[in-house]
Amino acid sequence: MEYAVRDTVALDEENQALVIIDQTRLPQEEVYLRLDQAGEIVEAIQKLRVRGAPAIGVAAAMGLYVCACRVSESDAACWRTKVRQIGAQISAARPTAVNLSWAVGRMLAVLDGDPGRTIPETLRALHDEACTIRDGDVRTCMQIGENGAALIRDGMAILTHCNAGRLAAVRYGTALAPVYRAAEQGKRIRVFADETRPLLQGARLTAYELSRAGIDVTLLCDNMAASLMAQGRIDAVFVGCDRVAANGDAANKIGTLGVAILAKHFGVPFYVCAPTSTVDLSCPCGEQIVIEQRDPSEVSRMWYAHPMAPEGIRVYNPAFDVTPHELITAMITEKGVCRDYSNLPQLV
Ligand code: MRU
Repeated sequence: MEYAVRDTVALDEENQALVIIDQTRLPQEEVYLRLDQAGEIVEAIQKLRVRGAPAIGVAAAMGLYVCACRVSESDAACWRTKVRQIGAQISAARPTAVNLSWAVGRMLAVLDGDPGRTIPETLRALHDEACTIRDGDVRTCMQIGENGAALIRDGMAILTHCNAGRLAAVRYGTALAPVYRAAEQGKRIRVFADETRPLLQGARLTAYELSRAGIDVTLLCDNMAASLMAQGRIDAVFVGCDRVAANGDAANKIGTLGVAILAKHFGVPFYVCAPTSTVDLSCPCGEQIVIEQRDPSEVSRMWYAHPMAPEGIRVYNPAFDVTPHELITAMITEKGVCRDYSNLPQLV
């Protein structure tokens, strides 16, 4: 596969480094980072320099490969142990998006797949697996785009929450892939982007990437979606997802549940777009999904010139919530559109 230099996540083959666009600097500046140390890769995932479930999966796989290249250990068994430790460190960086542990798990399966392999042979195999995971993401997102675009009619207005676009994957995204594909098909679409408090992925990232792509996008505060829906101005909701439980419950950015409840109330179809790698069959239902809790300062002071809450105030700052499957009209995966979640195990 040919790769544009500016994919969201890429491998610098010459210097064995992970290359990411630093999403904390958007939309002001497009800064690319070259990372090759486990600590800085973990930091980049935790600080959301690279974020979005598919993107952190690919970054973790490439990151583990570049770190493995730097483990100076001549004994193959000791080398494998060190690489395994780095894998565990990267995998634990964030808890909710299953793609992170899924991608590291695939890399570790390759690491331990053939104990007879030399270190250079294993490195080659790790490199190839990381590239396979990246290629899979590109293909999968294109297919989600194709499957989702079939649900979009000319002239539709679509609401999205957070950023599940190009910046959340290698190249196309999940929830925005149908939008991009529908636009390519000549359909006129309007997108309404929730700003997505507290980290403003909708304002900083979705509004940025859609406007750059020439898609008609309007930004709104999270508390404005109800009024838009009440006026009949939203035809469908498309969101991404970080982990789908076996019963179809789906964890996504905090606030998604509220949008799903609104959509149900106003009779607006609510679509969750997810690669099948986001389905976690070992997790029976949404209540079992671990929800990441984040730094209180993201709510109380970040983005403000002065703190906007009293010093020391208790803050509730979960990064995700779970939408029960009853509120999800359909799940759009690379394998098709799933409306009956008892079929999820067959899909994966
Ligand atoms: O905390 P973030 O920015 O990583 O959260 C991202 C989301 O919630 C996305 O909607 C999800 O990961 C799907 S991305 C295709």
